[in-house]
Amino acid sequence: MADSIRFAIVGFGNIGAGVVEVFSHNRAAINARLPRPLELVRLADKDLTTPRPVPVPPGVEFTDNVEKVVRGDDVDIVVELVGGLRPARQFVEAALKGGKHVVTANKALLADCGAELWALAAKHGVSLLFEASVGGGIPVIRALQQGLAANQLLSVRGILNGTCNFILSSMAATGAKFAEALEEAKRLGYAESDPTFDIEGYDTAHKIAILASLAFGQDVRFSDVYVEGITHIRAEDIASARETGHAVKLLAVARCDGPGEAVEVRVHPALVPLASALGRTDGVLNAIEIVGNAVGPVTLVGRGAGRGPTASAVLSDVMNIAQQMVDGGAPLDRRLKVPVGERNLRPMRETAVAHALQLSVLDREDTVATIQEALRAERVDVARVVERSRRPGEYFNLTIFTKRSSEARLQAALNRLAASQITVEPPTVFRVEESA
Ligand code: HSE
Repeated sequence: MADSIRFAIVGFGNIGAGVVEVFSHNRAAINARLPRPLELVRLADKDLTTPRPVPVPPGVEFTDNVEKVVRGDDVDIVVELVGGLRPARQFVEAALKGGKHVVTANKALLADCGAELWALAAKHGVSLLFEASVGGGIPVIRALQQGLAANQLLSVRGILNGTCNFILSSMAATGAKFAEALEEAKRLGYAESDPTFDIEGYDTAHKIAILASLAFGQDVRFSDVYVEGITHIRAEDIASARETGHAVKLLAVARCDGPGEAVEVRVHPALVPLASALGRTDGVLNAIEIVGNAVGPVTLVGRGAGRGPTASAVLSDVMNIAQQMVDGGAPLDRRLKVPVGERNLRPMRETAVAHALQLSVLDREDTVATIQEALRAERVDVARVVERSRRPGEYFNLTIFTKRSSEARLQAALNRLAASQITVEPPTVFRVEESA
């Protein structure tokens, strides 16, 4: 097609099929919004035989020769949808070195070596865009790169994994055990047959590493993120949280108090207010709350996975590059800088977090005083105490909300509490993230 901007896809799996499908369906609208039309010229995959959910469109070459995509003279933009580190990194590097723009959905790659790849793109004067790597169809990368670019960003907190959010929401709604909710997630196609990557928090950790890098201009990697998954959560813990007005979410948190300050990056289950945007985000939806010093909190909610949402994000990147190829100007990926190797991270043991202690304790006159003494001795301040239920003279259930304290101090206080022999069973401890 004369004067078209040509893109090609490496990896014709589920997401690749989604991109083909959405591009075919929305092509007229997409091209009406661009100064020059987009044309899909080639699909590459090592497997040419497995039936795909969508056919290869007429006029599009389908090949197992990846070189024809990453080095082809007739390709302007390479879309990498292979996933994983190898050989995806080699494909992306070859394309960038060959002067091609790259769009990727590959969170693992960016959380492993994103800073090097963005630097390589800059060196060769091309773009590496990655909207689909976090939050599926939610335009969170664009929000950080453009919409909120005038702010000093203070925090990014999110529900970034639909599988975990489905499991926790379903446990909250039905009282199901973790294993039962996981089985249901598998049955509905939300969880993989090996769900480890999702339920242990690794998927979320990759995504928050990318968001933290962009938000704070530091080279934050997956290996820098403190990670706890959700496999130990019990339905009764979620029910107790609801009694104090909280939901249990697998939360990703990245926070930085100002330029030059240390960045904290963590993934773990947390209590959030039921009435907050994060607390109300249920099922497979994702939600990301960004706080900027000028704008305050902004929350984006939507589908964080699946063919349609991911294709929406991938194609928006392809469109952005197409527009920039015609208009010129600084590419989007260079607006927020991530210098290779530059990071100032706060270790988890030095991170101060608010906690909720869900306790079942003996009903004695000195019970509350004993608990408060254990906490005070380790300088853990109590924010409030909520009694949830009581069997007079026997035991009562309460939740103690603490102010922010280090994990080390909290652990010492819990040890004192155990020694006091006032608890009927081991306490359940959650970190708490209140509304921004
Ligand atoms: N498995 C992820 C989720 C989707 O459940 O959200 C891709 O990141």
